Amino acid sequence: MDAKAIYIGMDLGTFKTSVASSAGIRDVIHTAVGWPRDQVARTMLGRDVVFGKDLIEHRLAVNIVRPFEKGVLKYNSPDDAGVSADQITLYKQAARLVVEHAVSLTRPPKGVPIYGVIGAPSRASILNKKVLLEAAQHAFDGVMIVSEPFSIAYGMNRLSDTLVVDIGAGTTDICPVYGTFPREDEQVTIAQGGDVIDETFYRLLRERYPQAQISLNMAREIKEKYGFVHDVNEQALVMLPVNGRPQQFDVTEPLKEACKALVPLILDGLGEVISRFDPEFQQRMLQNIVLGGGGSQLKGLDRVIEDALKEFGGAKVKRVYDAVFAGAVGALKLAMSMPQDYFHQLKMAQQPCETEAEVSV
Ligand SMILES: Nc1ncnc2c1ncn2[C@@H]1O[C@H](COP(=O)(O)OP(=O)(O)OP(=O)(O)O)[C@@H](O)[C@H]1O
Ligand SMILES: [Mg+2]
Repeated sequence: MDAKAIYIGMDLGTFKTSVASSAGIRDVIHTAVGWPRDQVARTMLGRDVVFGKDLIEHRLAVNIVRPFEKGVLKYNSPDDAGVSADQITLYKQAARLVVEHAVSLTRPPKGVPIYGVIGAPSRASILNKKVLLEAAQHAFDGVMIVSEPFSIAYGMNRLSDTLVVDIGAGTTDICPVYGTFPREDEQVTIAQGGDVIDETFYRLLRERYPQAQISLNMAREIKEKYGFVHDVNEQALVMLPVNGRPQQFDVTEPLKEACKALVPLILDGLGEVISRFDPEFQQRMLQNIVLGGGGSQLKGLDRVIEDALKEFGGAKVKRVYDAVFAGAVGALKLAMSMPQDYFHQLKMAQQPCETEAEVSV
């Protein structure tokens, strides 16, 4: 470790980006950039680019770009995501600005080298890792891309016999950790996460209560407050406007249906990862399942997974203590424990690289 350098761990998510620095500063922002819509908006805002809370406050005056939405730049090719070449340039620029802004929030002193570890989805393709490295190029002197679930496990000192399930907005990543960097083909990325729950819940609500006025954003807020997947007596009663006047609605059933839809996908993914290991490891990993990412906060998820895994001989499922910062803190810990020459090697990897070994660990 270079005592003069600053180390930064970053969880570069579809929805939120969290950072933690060796100077003890943490922060979290939406993974989004806003450009003023016109000259009037630019004058009103007094700047060319808007981040964080200002995006919500001034959303009518800015064009918002979420660079990783629908897996663009992360695990999908532009064609799969239905995005044009021009848009891809804009998305790449937005990704770079988000990384640079997130790093600036940690207030690194001028002239000091900055080394970072960035968490990315476990199965991000080589092409996508290049994109992430490009986004990080100007913000860091040395950078390393690791799988998000691995950084969560590293932060919790769960370096062996552990299975991490990272439930984000765009993806759910499942990664086995057994004392070394996981290979790409050992991990599973499910192209669904909290966003799909929100969309399903929103659709079901509109079908059930067409008179209620609701936005996708409101649906997500309800999910974050009440979301659950178990069969215990949960009830979600919320106030929603009807012709402008608030009324109470029971949203328990649609909410449960939307949240539960992710469970079989997680169980299939777990089954797939577990069955690849030899039986002795399988049992130990089942006793050490960690749920991370914002979606890990769905009530009852740990118990539902434990119940479903009884047929595998039983399992123990635990949530991370801090769903917002677990990835960034793990990435910081990893950055601080990497030998310095490793970062020099990684610095070279910022140049266009052809082989996976150069960009991924
Ligand atoms: N209390 C909660 N209950 C259920 N879901 C929640 C809760 N809090 C946040 N979420 C959901 O977690 C998701 C965001 O998680 P996270 O911040 O880990 O995603 P991300 O890292 O940005 O995305 P990805 O890992 O897919 O790139 C969102 O769908 C959000 O609605
Ligand atoms: Mg994430």
